[in-house]
Amino acid sequence: MTQHIPTRLYLSEEEQPKSWFNLRAFMKNKPAPLLHPGTLQPATAADLAPVFCTECVKQELDDSTPLIPIPDGILEFYRAYRPAPLIRAYFLERALGTPAEIYYKHEGTNTSGSHKLNSAAAQAFYAKADGLTSLSTETGAGQWGSAMAMACAFFGLDLTVYMVRVSAEQKPYRKALIETYGAQLISSPSNTTDSGRKILADNPNTSGSLGCAISEAIEKAVKTPKCRYVLGSVLNHVLLHQSIIGQECKAAFDKYGIKPDVIIGSAGGGSNLGGLIAPFMSEKLQGKNDIQFIAVEPASCPSFTRGKFAYDFGDTAQTTPLIKMYSLGSGFIPSANHAGGLRYHGMNSTLSQLYHDKFIEARAVTQTAVFDSAVKFAKIEGILPAPESSHAIKVAIDEALECKRTGEKKVILFGLTGTGYFDMSAYSAYNNNTMSDHIPTDEELEMGFATLPKC
Ligand SMILES: Cc1ncc(COP(=O)(O)O)c(C=O)c1O
Repeated sequence: MTQHIPTRLYLSEEEQPKSWFNLRAFMKNKPAPLLHPGTLQPATAADLAPVFCTECVKQELDDSTPLIPIPDGILEFYRAYRPAPLIRAYFLERALGTPAEIYYKHEGTNTSGSHKLNSAAAQAFYAKADGLTSLSTETGAGQWGSAMAMACAFFGLDLTVYMVRVSAEQKPYRKALIETYGAQLISSPSNTTDSGRKILADNPNTSGSLGCAISEAIEKAVKTPKCRYVLGSVLNHVLLHQSIIGQECKAAFDKYGIKPDVIIGSAGGGSNLGGLIAPFMSEKLQGKNDIQFIAVEPASCPSFTRGKFAYDFGDTAQTTPLIKMYSLGSGFIPSANHAGGLRYHGMNSTLSQLYHDKFIEARAVTQTAVFDSAVKFAKIEGILPAPESSHAIKVAIDEALECKRTGEKKVILFGLTGTGYFDMSAYSAYNNNTMSDHIPTDEELEMGFATLPKC
């Protein structure tokens, strides 16, 4: 007899995962090491120590430990909002008339509104353990800045957030939220750093980018005593923290006897997707499943689908270690897409290697098509999704409709990474038909590729 699957797949406190999952330990082709930008040799812990917290450096360089226990102080924080709901989308299945089963992991139930809090809590905890007094960071959509502000308030740290100018203008209430939690918010590029001043001198009307904001935040960290930089995506220790998403999904699916066929996630720098797929991908790498993994990115910032697999800088001012990744070039400034969290020129190195080795596929989708799906989802499932998350919704709906056409009964899981309450200007643009789609031309992409370092 088949078991009835409830709308919410619960995990008790005992069933909740207590370890992060390090996917790199299972990869035959490991992600290429970070390189020191001066020597072009693999970056060492000593190279990374002036910028990042000690434990994050250790995790960043660890390619071999499969499970990393989550410290009690972080587990305690997680208990306030985890496990995140894993929901069977019965309403959506019915509305689409699909034979597919659709599940989504809803990471938007905490106040910051997204999955970003999973890594923010870990990074603030480790900073406190290192005896630091302040942190600096960047934020695109504002979700990471909000998450860091919450985590720093909880663990007692000062925080400066450089917010990409276009997002700061589109989302004044993100600023208010971040300031409410006690952090300082600066619109980037700004006159408060050398890199910000240089970017403004070259291009005063720039809408900003995550690459610019990262440059400013790193400069702030290295010039301030007892301060380090924290990053909300791209790096492998961030993916590690986000593996709590996949760990919970795996535990719940195992409990209810569910085997996914397709797993879909939006991809900005890759943290939610990397975290969602981690335990499932490890089984695929061991030949234990044949799940189809799909990364969804905006057509306006197509790092996977049109980028180059090369060593590149993580920031516009070209100060970070070099990362081997699919990239559009650190000088690429995407158009003002409303999914600010997906406007990043590169992609995490682990996901890049898996994509290169064809374990992951990628799709680029236009903004208006994404909002068609977002509004449909909001009306049917009742949750107002973040624009970033809606990229995954769009492809989940496409896949479910394909099942309707073929009659296949696939099990689809997607990451609903956050809620869209602070994205109402984007929803208004969609409702007023003033939203447009920009797909960069090959010439525009060439300008970005020209900024790739020659190594
Ligand atoms: C709600 C939401 N989803 C997805 C992303 C994409 O980031 P990542 O690829 O690191 O998960 C962001 C980034 O800000 C976000 O805010």
